[in-house]
Order: sequence, then structure tokens, then C-alpha cells
Amino acid sequence: MNLPEPYRIKSVESIRLLPRGHREKLLEEAGYNLFQLAAENVFIDLLTDSGTGAMSADQWAALMQGDESYAGSRSYFQLQSVVEDLFHFPHVLPTHQGRGAERVFFQTVVKEGDIIPSNTHFDTTRGNLESLGCTAVDLPVCEAKHTQTDHPFKGDMDIDSLESLLASQGKRVPFVMLTMTNNRAGGQPVSMENLALVSSLARFYRIPLVIDACRHAENAFFIKRRDPRYQTSSIPEIVAEVFSFADAMLMSAKKDGLCNIGGFIALRDSALFERLKNSLLLMEGFPTYGGLAGRDLAAMAVGLREATQEDYLEHRIGQVEFLGTELLNRGGPVYQPFGGHAVYMDAGRIFEEHPRDFPGQCLAVSLYLEGGIRSCDVGSSMFDTSGENELKLELLRLAIPRRTYTESHLRYVADYVQKILERKQDIPDLKRTHHPGALGHFVARYALAPQQESMPAAM
Ligand code: F0G
Repeated sequence: MNLPEPYRIKSVESIRLLPRGHREKLLEEAGYNLFQLAAENVFIDLLTDSGTGAMSADQWAALMQGDESYAGSRSYFQLQSVVEDLFHFPHVLPTHQGRGAERVFFQTVVKEGDIIPSNTHFDTTRGNLESLGCTAVDLPVCEAKHTQTDHPFKGDMDIDSLESLLASQGKRVPFVMLTMTNNRAGGQPVSMENLALVSSLARFYRIPLVIDACRHAENAFFIKRRDPRYQTSSIPEIVAEVFSFADAMLMSAKKDGLCNIGGFIALRDSALFERLKNSLLLMEGFPTYGGLAGRDLAAMAVGLREATQEDYLEHRIGQVEFLGTELLNRGGPVYQPFGGHAVYMDAGRIFEEHPRDFPGQCLAVSLYLEGGIRSCDVGSSMFDTSGENELKLELLRLAIPRRTYTESHLRYVADYVQKILERKQDIPDLKRTHHPGALGHFVARYALAPQQESMPAAM
């Protein structure tokens, strides 16, 4: 039996479902790009799980206690103490969000021509590295490429590929990254075993290991659940072991920090900490507040601990399982096993007989048109999938904001997915008319394909 919400609701926010004709017009105005819609015109928003969750009463209380001093804020020391306690990193630099941490870290550590391997880089990590003249290389295990096979840790990195890269090009690799969980491929977890192997290889070549830690608590929950050796460990024990293998972490607290904004860099190396501080001063702010208000630091300190509570994680992962199972029962091809923060539909498979240039985007548009639901393509509209080493997966991501929607919202989503899949031949085809290059998916525009004169009638 599934655990019900381990919280009750104290404050609510109204959402409204516009008439379908209105949504059709809004889609056209937005160039069929859901990032361009005003949020108030969305009924259920599964665009992202980043910064969209509900804070707890304790976090709101912490906000009021935030210390807004420019230098040496009490809230910074609270954050530092939590980070040290959970991850055992002595040095912390707050940033406004994850990509702020990436920018400061990368700009300080990499040089043009460097190669940075990861299990799979997500969009801003790849974008930030490429903008600095580096090559971001994805080395997922081959199981990650298959959406219908069973494997407990599809987020793992391919060790043989990493070894041959480090043996041949190690001098150009300033650090190795692991993204937990793997957001490009189904929100799949990384195993402790893989982490240990990646870490020992990196150590052998004297290359630091950096964890992109956005969803580290969800990853730890999967380790507990899927690796028998950790069945009786607590989540904080698993988290401490995970980060003992790493030299630094880059964190977006908008995910497993349970905050609406915030991030940080944490590390062991004192000399690098000093260099990063200088970069932070230029790019984000004074080292004890980074890009944040004192109250944001205070809410983050509380959120980081809450995210490692087991009843919270059980319910959270349970919500993803619930939506995934509802979709499977209705015949939807879904990335399996279910991942941590989202259900990913295999859009490529859905359109096998009616090929589309942007399968995930076509599904996303149709789901908004029919149900007012916003989701996100994680496929060729977000990434350039033409390179030979790129993951070819065409996915539609239904990301679940933390502590925000209930089971009946998710059932409504499953109903509408079923509706559009029953008439998938009528799902409008799209051509891309504008795309400005790196991270272009946020502002790209699309039009109905020439053979598609108008939107189909209501499904
Ligand atoms: N790394 C990963 C794995 C991410 O998923 C994200 C953000 C970032 C880094 C950057 O963090 O947004 O705080 O700057 N992913 C969001 C998403 C936006 O929708 O998955 P940020």
C-alpha cells in the first residue's frame, strides 16, 4: 500500500482551466513553445520540478529568521553547518542557482579545449562548458539508451569508455562529472558501485570527481531500495558515503534543496576554495551570500535536511511510480524502471509509424491543447542529437514538482495522455522556424508543418 502525503495542506493556490479554443490561440502566439506560455494559462504544470515545489512551514519560519547581513550572515553559517553535516564538505559557496555554481566553478577550473566526461550532462551544464570552448562528453551505460529494459541503475557511467578516454586524453580532462540522478535519461540513479569505480579511476589519473548533485537525495533513496547492501542504512548515511567519493559538488537547491531558488558549490580543497571565492565575488556576490538573500540561505539549510527524510522520499518517488503505472496501464510507452523526479514517455516509440522531427515537442503541444497540461521535450528539441555519441532518446518529460500536486491531479494527467495517444495520428506535426543555437530550446519557435493546415478537432 502506498504511503499517503506525509504532510497536510495549509495554504492553497488556485489554478484554472481555460477553454480549449483559448489554449489553441495561446499556443500559436507562443510559437508552440511551452516555455513561452504565461504560467497562469497552465492548469497542471509539469514543465519542471526545479524551484516549483512547496516549502514547508519550517522553511517559511526560517525565511523570517534570515540574517540579511552583507558579510558573515548567521544564515550562511547555518547552511555551512548543514552542508558539512550531510556531505562532509568543509567549504561552501552559495550561488543563485545550479547554473550559477556551474559558471563559477567551470570558469575557474577549465580552459579552452578541455574535455569533461559525465554519465550525461544536462542542458545548462553542457551549455556552460561549450560556451567556454570545452567538449562535454556523455558516457552513459548502454542500458540507459533502452527505455523498455529493466536495470536498477541506468544512470551509471560506462567505465570502459571512461577508462579509454582518461588513458588517451587524460591531460585534457580537468575533472570527471557524475549527474545524480541522470536527468537526460529517465531520471535514473547512479549506483554506489559505479560511483566507487568512477572515483577510483579518476583518482588513479589524479583527476578530481565532481558530482552534479541536484537530485542526490532521490538517488540515495534508490540506492537504499535497489542495492541490498544498503537496505538498513539511513538516507543521511548513504548520502555521506556517496559524497565521500567526490572532491566537489555543484548543487541546484531548487531540486533536492526543496527551495524556490538557490544553489551552492561545496568542496574539500582549500586552495581551490580561495580561487572560487574570487570568481564568486565577480559573478555572484560576497562569499557568505553568493547570489542569494540571507533568508534564502536559511530556507535552504532547512530544505536540504527535509529532502533526506525517508517518509518524504518514499512519498515523492511513490508519486512518480503512481503516474508511471497509470500511464503504463493505459498503454503509454514509459521509460522503465521509473526514475526519481519525472515520468518520461518514449515519444520516439509513440511516433514510430508516424515519424516527426520533434516527437516530444508534438506530444507536449498536444497535451497542453487537450488538457491544459504543460510538460517538456527532453529530446531533439532540447539537445542536438545528431552527433554520433549523443543519446538518441526522444522523450517527453512529465516532471513532478515536490509536495505540490495530489494523486487526482496525476490521474487527470494520465487521462489526457491516454486521450491523445488514442488519436496519435491526429497529433499536430511541427516544424522549427527559429532556433538561436546553444540553449535555444527556451526561445525556439515552431509552426504547424505545411501538410498540417490547422489544429485537429477536440480529442
Ligand atoms: N544539473 C541538472 C542535472 C539539472 O537538472 C539542472 C536544472 C541544472 C544542473 C541547473 O540547475 O536550474 O538551478 O540552474 N534542471 C532543471 C530541469 C531546469 O528542468 O530539469 P538550475
